[in-house]
Amino acid sequence: MRDGKTDVETEVKTDVNTDVKTDVLILAAGLGTRMKSRRAKVLHELAGSPLVAYVLRAALELAPEAVFTVVGYQADEVERAVRDEVKRREQARMPALPGALPGVPARTELHFVRQLEQRGTGHAVMAAREQLEKHHGELLVLAGDAPLIKAETLKRLAEIHRAEQNDATMLTVLMDDPTGYGRIIRDKDGSLLRCVEQKDGSPEELATREVGVSIYCFNLDALLAALDHLTTDNAQGEYYLTDVPRIMQAHGKKVGLLLHSNAEEVLGVNTRIELADLERKLRESKLRELMLSGVTIVDPATTYIHRDVQIGQDSIIHPQVIIEGLSRIGSGCTIQSWTRMKNVQIEDNVTIRNSSVIEDSVIREGATLGPFARLRAGADIGEKAGIGNFVEVKKSKIGRGTKASHLTYLGDATLGERVNIGAGTVTCNYDGVRKNETIIEDDVKIGSDTMLVAPVRVGRGSKTAAGSVVTKDVPADSLVAGVPAVVKKKLK
Ligand code: UD1
Ligand code: CA
Repeated sequence: MRDGKTDVETEVKTDVNTDVKTDVLILAAGLGTRMKSRRAKVLHELAGSPLVAYVLRAALELAPEAVFTVVGYQADEVERAVRDEVKRREQARMPALPGALPGVPARTELHFVRQLEQRGTGHAVMAAREQLEKHHGELLVLAGDAPLIKAETLKRLAEIHRAEQNDATMLTVLMDDPTGYGRIIRDKDGSLLRCVEQKDGSPEELATREVGVSIYCFNLDALLAALDHLTTDNAQGEYYLTDVPRIMQAHGKKVGLLLHSNAEEVLGVNTRIELADLERKLRESKLRELMLSGVTIVDPATTYIHRDVQIGQDSIIHPQVIIEGLSRIGSGCTIQSWTRMKNVQIEDNVTIRNSSVIEDSVIREGATLGPFARLRAGADIGEKAGIGNFVEVKKSKIGRGTKASHLTYLGDATLGERVNIGAGTVTCNYDGVRKNETIIEDDVKIGSDTMLVAPVRVGRGSKTAAGSVVTKDVPADSLVAGVPAVVKKKLK
């Protein structure tokens, strides 16, 4: 199943372009020297996702037939980052997350191309030659280090490319400070004369404010032909992809330039300072979007909410909250300070008090958590349940109205409705070999400091006295006490 957005885009694609197919190639093999890092630049994270994931995401929105990623430096890790992003998109289409993200078009093939030595952007495309030769039509080339690129811009580039019947169309922008970028030199008619890299340019050439941003649309056949003519005759001794348009022109091919008005969108990340700048921009725009949709963000300066998080109307996010991953929070919720959450599904009117740490969990309508609650690995907190201070819940289902208010560990447990868990209760779920289950039926009262040695079941309506060590199943409506606990009396 696809969400509405992708369907619309697919339609747009078939309207505009019934016979030309578009493939995408992402340049992601370089180290990124200016990051001063041992990690490949495209693996550095922005708002919790690697840079390359953003580029891939924009590319997938075009529903391409194939995405080629050129990998080299830390090839396996970059490949994994790309595959993980695709998995994320697929996950986002699962029913638990209605309408969360544009999913992955089912028909997109992923290909990875190894560029063993990084000898330039042109060389990166040359490395893909063998695979590209099996394809025809158009190829969008994207830099893996420019994460803010929007799918609409790529669509527009492809449309103009087709409308002008170009063999290559380059996206360009005007930069106030073009330092480091390849300059676009035009002739007096405005056509491309040549591209000049920072290290190769004369002072007059470098004074040009129009730059190329490593985003191109090529006719594949013309691109492959031009690659044969690339040389390393330049200051860096590299094969420059920026030489391809000029080579094409020399062979009578048509090259177009598309001057894009939004320079911010195509900024590449070259240093950690630029990375932090983008992080701030992305964060601010996400918070603005949430506030405009009716979410109160008490202190935007200290609130960190990642791009794929959804929050409903009239929810209040207090200062110093972090919400990450594929998270969805309903309306009327209150999230208090110093809380960190990742991959959570929270229904309406839930209160999370200070300093709670919650991952991969579901919290149902009207529940209250914290302060200092810890939920992980598929905790499922029922309607109006209460999980209090210093309570850890792991892979457990907590029934409606059930309370565990203080100092408790609930792991691999299923708790019914209206259960009360006394302070200091532990589900002893691990026998040193395997994890065992605890089942606590409806209306049970577990006395303080009870040890529930799993596997064990406590029957409906029963009680355990304080300090009980429960090693055997407790029948319904009974009081047990002692070490090990034995039935003291029937309650009904
Ligand atoms: C490139 C462009 C420049 C443009 C700038 C910003 C060339 C010669 N220059 O310069 O005109 O203004 O991008 O978009 O193309 N990569 C590989 N293999 C390589 C080299 C690079 O895959 O051998 C990848 C990198 O991982 C990166 C992208 O290509 O994702 C751009 O590489 P980078 O080294 O940042 O190019 P710039 O010097 O910025
Ligand atoms: Ca760059």
